[in-house]
Amino acid sequence: MIRAVVLISGRGSNLAALLAASLPVEFAAVISNRPQAEGLGHARRCGIPAIALDHRDHAERAAFDAEVMRHIDACRPDVVVLAGYMRILTEAFVDHYAGRLVNIHPSLLPSFPGLDTHRHALAEGVKIHGCTVHFVTAQVDHGPIIAQAAVPVLADDTEATLAQRVLAQEHRLYPMALRWLAEGRIEIVEGVVRLRGAAASQALFAPQLPGPCA
Ligand code: GRF
Repeated sequence: MIRAVVLISGRGSNLAALLAASLPVEFAAVISNRPQAEGLGHARRCGIPAIALDHRDHAERAAFDAEVMRHIDACRPDVVVLAGYMRILTEAFVDHYAGRLVNIHPSLLPSFPGLDTHRHALAEGVKIHGCTVHFVTAQVDHGPIIAQAAVPVLADDTEATLAQRVLAQEHRLYPMALRWLAEGRIEIVEGVVRLRGAAASQALFAPQLPGPCA
């Protein structure tokens, strides 16, 4: 069993997927920077301590991150899981959790870092979109990639339909990646993730793509 703290900002559907996955993970706390985040209620219903902070109480980003770090460190986690945590992190925060801070991002990184990934994917006309679980480094939405899921972009997709299909894959991908972490299957060699055992062949979900592929 490893201990994890999950950081959220809103809905918490990825959090719910992680909690439902019967992982060998003890969820020590869920922390939100938005007191009204729906995910906090879900954590409480699952019996997990839910901590509501408010970043607007701090004028400085560094002061808020320090407050979050105090709460996280009190839980002594092995891993800190960002699940829809909509904050730019300070370097001090990222450094403090280096190698044990993971995130899920709704694009196939390094394409489309930042916000509105589905809109950008449609505007660029990419044929494959998806999501990525990665270790967090100081560069936003960057860092060693653990696993990705590919989602075809369909001709009649809207931001909403594409987001929905990507989210469904997020809910499969994040539990799988966290399980690998818990099982000690992941190492970082020269900035690249190496997976041991079965994990090595499962780091890409690629659904059957429509249309001729030749
Ligand atoms: C997800 O799409 C996640 O990839 C992104 O923010 C969204 C959070 O959704 N970082 P939820 O709160 O997990 O439902």
